[in-house]
Amino acid sequence: MPGYLVEDTRKVTTKRLAEMKSAGKKIAMLTAYDYTTARIVDAAGVDVVLIGDSASNVMAGNATTLPATIEQMIYHARSVVRGVERALVVCDMPFGSYQVSAEEAVRNAIRIMKETSCDALKLEGGIEILPAVERILDAGIPVCGHLGLTPQSINKFGTYAVRAREDAEAEKLFHDAKLLAAAGCFAVVVEKIPAALTQRVVKALPIPVIGIGGGPADGQVLVIDDMLGKNRGFSPKFLRRYADLYGIMTDAIGQYVTDVKSGDFPNAEESY
Ligand code: KIV
Repeated sequence: MPGYLVEDTRKVTTKRLAEMKSAGKKIAMLTAYDYTTARIVDAAGVDVVLIGDSASNVMAGNATTLPATIEQMIYHARSVVRGVERALVVCDMPFGSYQVSAEEAVRNAIRIMKETSCDALKLEGGIEILPAVERILDAGIPVCGHLGLTPQSINKFGTYAVRAREDAEAEKLFHDAKLLAAAGCFAVVVEKIPAALTQRVVKALPIPVIGIGGGPADGQVLVIDDMLGKNRGFSPKFLRRYADLYGIMTDAIGQYVTDVKSGDFPNAEESY
């Protein structure tokens, strides 16, 4: 059944996501950064819309997510929230907005919630950011964790290769996931880790585990520009392309250019 024929049209909540995990129903999560796309993503039946700081890459053309600012995330999140009726809307806290202190983290979290009306926030990291996660949860803000290949730490990793292949890193990730769940996070994203480790985490955690490059999990997330094939240069093994928007858009825009230059557009019916 296509996603857009979802039977349950009620607003998705963190409680519903927990019920979906218990019932063995998979969760579909996808990024969006603007109003028009958010409307389409929501209408197509996506359960969770993420305003990812991947906006720094795909919207702004930066090499990493590190330059994303709170103001930029708020701008994107406000646009997305206006376009979504059903999905749970989660906004990434950008690099630098939660690492300095738990105090500053909760202040920034409250600002993002107030100024965007999104439903929840996502933070990258485990035990290192636990005090920040706990303070934000104490403020009544739902938090989604993010472990494995956490792009805000790319300069520490030095590579976008698969994480947690070695026992020590795998054990740390497993421990971090349990800490985040015990703290009260409503879900955890695991990025680019071995499928067997994802399965361990899925089985151990009472909350949904959402994978990206982590094999089967309680749900999956992708960056919308990647799965729609807008960027032909990015093709990691985990990415399934559902369209070739680069090709479709180039053909359409090329045709427009041809029609304008030939004088074919606008014709009499397209004129007042
Ligand atoms: O920023 C983002 O889009 C993300 C997803 C890749 C999980 O964090």
